[in-house]
Amino acid sequence: MSVRRARVVGWGGYLPPHVVTNDDLSRRIDTSDAWIVERTGIRQRHIASQGELTSDLATAAARRALDVAGMTAAQVDLIVLASTTPDETFPATATVVQRKLGMDGGAAFDIQAVCAGFVFALATADAFIRSNQCQAALVIGAETFSRLLDWNDRGTCVLFGDGAGAVVLRAEPGNGDGADRGVLSTHIHTDGRHHDMLYVNGGVSSTGTTGVVRMEGKDVFRHAVAKLADSVDEALAANGLGRGDIDWLVPHQANKRIIDATLRKLGLAEDKLVLTVDRHANTSAASVPLALADAAGDGRIRSGHLVLIEAIGGGLAWGSAAVRW
Ligand code: ACO
Repeated sequence: MSVRRARVVGWGGYLPPHVVTNDDLSRRIDTSDAWIVERTGIRQRHIASQGELTSDLATAAARRALDVAGMTAAQVDLIVLASTTPDETFPATATVVQRKLGMDGGAAFDIQAVCAGFVFALATADAFIRSNQCQAALVIGAETFSRLLDWNDRGTCVLFGDGAGAVVLRAEPGNGDGADRGVLSTHIHTDGRHHDMLYVNGGVSSTGTTGVVRMEGKDVFRHAVAKLADSVDEALAANGLGRGDIDWLVPHQANKRIIDATLRKLGLAEDKLVLTVDRHANTSAASVPLALADAAGDGRIRSGHLVLIEAIGGGLAWGSAAVRW
């Protein structure tokens, strides 16, 4: 059966130049490189400088993705940008990116699903392409997450970083089976009952302030391992594929221990894993597209590979995508 597929034809990442190591943090708060590496696998994070906005990081990543695709911004008719840290309360940061890219057509909007945001954005863009509402989409995850942190809370501030990643999706015909190149499936979930596990204690209509991240780390850890492994299996089952078919697992880069536990649960070898959390820390919605850009950029992820993406974040919101590169 002939279907429309959203094929990944470009990818790019951007990290702000300023690097903060664990040792740098240990000079400001009561923590240590040893504690952070042992509990999280994180060694450093990139932090946006004052005046460097989410839209700046997003635009830089988008330009790199368009270069890889060999396309101009004018050939894109949709931008879906996942972010928890918009430039302004409105308009959508995606429209700022649209302007910065010099686009004068198409549509651009934001998606908010925190660390799962890229999967939600990918699911949305894929649906637009499948239903013939657009021909080519930029899907971006971009965050200046450092601006939501309580730098006196050592339980959270050591975990996060800033950055952006983007992919270009282009409509192409497929046969409707797992051998097609492109997004094979997406699955998204939320469960609002878990709000208190991970949230920001401010907002436009509640406090009128931005607020800072609050988290019950152990509970998040437990839910993450269970839900992420289930999400991968859900993606495989939807495509009639097995765990052995996975070429690359590209997980949300929150914490090496969560990733290791998920790998163990799935019985996957470490050489199937794309890992960036040591260098990037948790960049929320940017973590998956940054990891994709890393591994596709250096030639690990190649044409025809089956890439399994999973992510979870505040909400709780979680999901997965199966993509034939
Ligand atoms: N440096 C040194 N000590 C610390 C630090 C730190 N940065 N942070 C906490 N501690 C201390 C605590 O104060 C506590 O001390 P105490 O025993 O004297 O009270 C001790 O370390 C243990 O604290 P716990 O919170 O119990 O530590 P835990 O082993 O649970 O590790 C962590 C904390 C790393 C946050 C873990 O719970 C975790 O990884 N959770 C997942 C959370 C996550 O990844 N969130 C990201 C957003 S959601 C997502 O993206 C999936």
